[in-house]
Amino acid sequence: MRTGTLIKTLDAKDGRNVILRTPKWEDLDDLIEFINSIIEEGADLGTYQKVTREQEAEWLGQQLAETEKGNRFVVLAEVHGKVVANASIVKYAGYLAHVGELSIAIKNGFRDIGVGTEMLKTLISRAENMGLKMLTLTVFSTNNRAKHVYEKVEFRETGCIPNGLYKNGKFIDHIIMVKEITRAPKSI
Ligand SMILES: CC(C)(COP(=O)(O)OP(=O)(O)OC[C@H]1O[C@@H](n2cnc3c(N)ncnc32)[C@H](O)[C@@H]1OP(=O)(O)O)[C@@H](O)C(=O)NCCC(=O)NCCS
Repeated sequence: MRTGTLIKTLDAKDGRNVILRTPKWEDLDDLIEFINSIIEEGADLGTYQKVTREQEAEWLGQQLAETEKGNRFVVLAEVHGKVVANASIVKYAGYLAHVGELSIAIKNGFRDIGVGTEMLKTLISRAENMGLKMLTLTVFSTNNRAKHVYEKVEFRETGCIPNGLYKNGKFIDHIIMVKEITRAPKSI
């Protein structure tokens, strides 16, 4: 898919207009601000180190290149010309080539207005085009909002790594969730 391609527009629950689209090079500064604001807030993500411009440029370049090859699909949400959310599917390789890893983050101030649910639905509808049979994700057991939203789009909890995360001096269970895109036929 070309970069910066419009996927859809929607009216969020608070009335703000939201554009869902693929990323483009010009998003670099917005993306740095976006990811560093989420890290600064201490959100339940796998990373806690702020990124430099150089690191984010390398990351964005990789996203664009892998998207071009069909191994990745990235959707951004834009409100009033600013990037406020990022979600993606990364396709695995080899014996895992039918599996995609999903991730999503929305900037503080833009949550609970329906954007996450819409972005997840967008990713799920793309998964089949990418030849994927299932999507997986991991989530902090304490992240009740994220778990609720994932369940709403029919991810189910399939596993738990007890104490798989360590944050602010506490161990937290790491939950694994799965959504089948097309069910494999049962063997006879
Ligand atoms: C988790 C996240 C992606 C969800 O996206 P979002 O846009 O906020 O979600 P939506 O507005 O579509 O839906 C929020 C739902 O969660 C519910 N909710 C909010 N707080 C909740 C809580 N503490 N426990 C359970 N449900 C909660 C809302 O009521 C709403 O449910 P409904 O649609 O059934 O009414 C987003 O909040 C986010 O990025 N958070 C910070 C980073 C993060 O946690 N990323 C996920 C890492 S695995």
